[in-house]
This record gives sequence, C-alpha cells and structure tokens, in this order.
Amino acid sequence: MTETLSYDVIIVGSGLAGLRAAIAAASKNKTLKIAVISKVQVMRSHSVSAEGGTAAVLYDNEGDNIESHIYDTIKGSDFLADQDVAERLVNSIPREIIQLDRWGMPWSRRDNGRIDQRKFGGYSFPRATYAQDKVGFYEMQTLYDTCLKFDNISFFNEWFCTSILHEGNNFQGFTCIEMKSGNFLNITAPSGIICTGGAGRIFSFSTYAYSSTPDGLDMAYRAGMALKDMEFVQFHPTGILPSGILITEGARGEGGYLINSEGERFMKNYAKEKLELAPRDVVSRSMITEIQAGRGFKHVTGVDCLKLDLTHLGEERIKEKLAGIREIGIKFSGIDVIDEPIEVRPVCHYMMGGIHSNVDGATEFNGLWVAGEASCNSTHGANRLGANSTSECLVWGAITGELAANHALSKKNMSINIDDKQILQEEKRIYDGIFRGRGDVNPYEVRKTLTDTMDEKAYVYRNENDLIDGLKKIRSLKLMSWKHVNDQAKEYNTNFINVMEIDSMLRVAEVVLLGAINRRESRGAHSRIDYPYRDDNNFLKHTLAYYSSDETEPRMEWHPVIFTRYAPVERKY
Ligand code: FUM
Repeated sequence: MTETLSYDVIIVGSGLAGLRAAIAAASKNKTLKIAVISKVQVMRSHSVSAEGGTAAVLYDNEGDNIESHIYDTIKGSDFLADQDVAERLVNSIPREIIQLDRWGMPWSRRDNGRIDQRKFGGYSFPRATYAQDKVGFYEMQTLYDTCLKFDNISFFNEWFCTSILHEGNNFQGFTCIEMKSGNFLNITAPSGIICTGGAGRIFSFSTYAYSSTPDGLDMAYRAGMALKDMEFVQFHPTGILPSGILITEGARGEGGYLINSEGERFMKNYAKEKLELAPRDVVSRSMITEIQAGRGFKHVTGVDCLKLDLTHLGEERIKEKLAGIREIGIKFSGIDVIDEPIEVRPVCHYMMGGIHSNVDGATEFNGLWVAGEASCNSTHGANRLGANSTSECLVWGAITGELAANHALSKKNMSINIDDKQILQEEKRIYDGIFRGRGDVNPYEVRKTLTDTMDEKAYVYRNENDLIDGLKKIRSLKLMSWKHVNDQAKEYNTNFINVMEIDSMLRVAEVVLLGAINRRESRGAHSRIDYPYRDDNNFLKHTLAYYSSDETEPRMEWHPVIFTRYAPVERKY
C-alpha cells in the first residue's frame, strides 16, 4: 500500500513563483497546511540565476506610467499576449516590488535612497528594478527567509513529482518519489499549484540550469491539460561562449554595445531608435543575420559569434552594477569585461509557452493552478520583454497562492478518495516502463541528440524542412530502446530521475516542433524564413496541444487571443 500524505495546498516547484505562492497561501489562514515540493534544494531552483531585473512602474512622477508598460508588453509580444493578462501583470507588480522591499530585499538604490531602475529592451522607460546583477538570487533569498517564518509551510526538497492524481477534471494530488529513500508516495490536497519553471534544457545551448526539464509541463500534458504556444522559444542575444551562461541584458541597459567583426554597432541597421535595447527577438535575429552575412567572429571552439563591448563603461561602473557578469566572464571565458569585449551568441533562455491557464492562473482542472514560467496565461504572447518574467512569477505566485488557499478553505474536512488504479498505473509506467526497462541505447546519448537537434532545427530562424527533419528525429528517438536505468539502487538514484526527465523532454520537444510547423507565419520569437511575415488573418491565435494517450500525434487546436484596447500594428523599434 502506497503511503499517502495529506495537505491543504501543494505547490510543486520552489522558484520565485512557488515561494511567493507559498507565502500567499500560508498567510491567508494559519490553519492551512502548505507543502512545497521541489526536485532540488530551494536555493538551487533556476530562479536564482535571474540577473537583470524585475519590470515595474515605480515612478509615475518621473514620466513613467502603467499604460506605457502595458503597451510595451503587448507590442513586445507581437500582439499575441492576452491583453487582460498583460494589464493584470502591470497593475499588480508595483506592490510586489514594495512588498519585497518590506521583506528585506536589497534593491539597488539611488543616491537619494530610493529604489533604482535600469533600462531594458523594448521598454519606453527604465523600469527593470534591480539588485546589482543578481536579482533572482536576492529575490529568492528574501522569499525563502520569509517562508521560514511560517510554521504552516513544509518543504519537501529533492522530491520528484511523477504524475497528477485526479478524478475526472478535479485535482486530487500528486504521486512523488522521495529521492533520498527512493520511496514512492502520494500527496493529496484539494488545491495544487504547478510552479516548475521553464523547459529550456530541451536545447543544448541554453542559459537554463541542467535541472530545467519539462517534468511539470509533461505531468499536466499527460493528465489531459493543454500545452499552449510552445513554439515560442526565446533566444536571449547574449549567451557567453562556450557554455551559454547568461550575460544579462542589464549589460546593454547600462550602455553596452554589440559589435560585429567590422567594429560596427550593427543594431543601428535593424532598430534605429532602440539599438541594442530592441526586444530580444529583434536583437537575436539581427545577430544571426550579421553572422550569415559574414560579419561575425569565430570563437576558439569554431562557433560563430558577435561581441559585447562594455569597456567604455569603466571599471567603477562595471564593478558596482555588473559584478556578477564580470565574474562569469573571467571564470567561464577567461575575459575580464573591464578590459575586453566578450564573445556572445543568441541562446535559449525562456519559453513563452506552457500549461494553458487563464488570467487567474487557473488550469483546465478544478483546484489546480499554474504560476511562473511553467504557465502560459499568455502574458508574453510571442515574445517576452526582459524583466517581465520575474514580475510574472511574483504576481501569479501571489494570485494563485491566495486562490488555492480559498479553494482549500472551502473544501476543509472533505475527504479525498484517490483511485488505486491510477496509482498502480503510474507505478507500472515508471517502475516497469523505465526503472526495470531493458535496452541498449544510452539515454544520455538520446538526451544529447535531442538537445542538439533542437539547436540545429528550431533555433532563431526556422523553416519547414528543418522543422520536419527535427520532428522525425525526435520521433525516431522516442522509438529507440533507451528507457532503462543502469543504476538499480533505491536511494538517491539520479540516473532514474534523469531518465524520467528525458522521457518528458522527448514529448515536449515534439510539441514545440509541431507547433512551429503548424504556425506558418513569423511572429515574435518564431521566425520562419519560408513565411517571413506576420499573418494576422490566419494566425492571430494561440496554439493548444493535447496529449494522445496512445502516444500518437498530439491533438492540435487553436484558441482565441483576448483583446481589450490595442489593435495589432506593425512593430518598429
Ligand atoms: O538579461 C537578463 O538579465 C534576463 C532577464 C530576463 O530574462 O527577464
């Protein structure tokens, strides 16, 4: 008999969205028991890697205003954002910034003591609220410290959730593996929130932590919820070579230049007004165009790149505002940005798509919400503006935490009867299908081929032939006999966990490629050289992908975009 733990609210994922949700739920009512389940230690969540800022309007007396942030976000999204959602983001984030300040967040400050903000791409005002260039780390530390003040929040670190328990469309809990013991357990609650972050490790050249695999997305997908807009993958312009670690857009916000091999600031040819501070989709495309025109540099590894020049900012400013990326430059490429430009190239950084949800973060299941990068409430449409992601995590962490708590209170003392059949089926899937599986193909080689295929076939510029080749490759990998685990130990079996991660990567990569094939237009981060223009007549709509339990083709559907006030126009920067 599988052991079952009972809580009121279960949050899966301990990044910014998860911790903010835990605080919101726990502070709603002290009698609620909140569980935060994470496959890593809290401070190893990928949110700690966020660098440059959290976007918010703080100073309307200095010319900034809410309307402008909303419009910048919608224009940045190439008009695919749901406009009610963008409005909710922008209206809600200023109070989250102040709330973090009260909880002890060490925001960088102006000489007069007020919170400082820096420029970021695609915005009309400097509104990236920052703490040097380690925003995510400090936000996480602030939220984690705050969580620890609540007796009703319990952390289950290094627990891996494998599936969602549900009765029809009603959420009931999760099945999990406690990695330390290897025990398989159920954890039930009337309310759940998925905050498992993005899945950018389906690409090789990636800013994401190695743990950023799509297990959370896949769990929802397998349970019957749609994945939305997965074809929209953000490539950040400045991934350091060779590792792909992020060099923050804050470096350009502070005045850094991008230069080609002719020493030219080439962005003047692509975005006359915003230059290096155009949105990421525009800058990344411009960089690849420069490389294709023969004006790139060759990194020592043979990879094409461009250079980010910060030398004119001076030692004092770099040490004060960009100390983190200076350290990354020295340690990971042997270059001190005070003295020399650094080699960079567009890198997989964010997924605009995720689990289909509405303006409240509600999923298609009653009692289950989703917040942060795992969600697609359609705030960012086809292209997210930098610094709007940590904003989204905080805003929908708070919203979903409160809604989940209210729902749990309304169900207090009602028992949850889980179906033993579901649990047996899940045990069979993971233990018979994976742990005791047989095969001669190395799963880690499958992972490498998968991620290399995504880099090669679904990068900044895409076309039908490449995408179809990519899909065939992923499907051929799925059919190979790779589902087996060499290490048969029960305790701390990271080999087992890795193979389950690869299983989710294959399914979600397939959805990304299918979405990209079906969207025969160029919009935001999805650029098709065979369909170079945005096509509002045919594609001003969201993509939904539903899982087929026989593992044949996902079922693809379209879903309307919500407009409030802004009609689509041509994007110019
Ligand atoms: O460049 C950066 O610091 C990244 C920020 C973001 O993705 O929001």
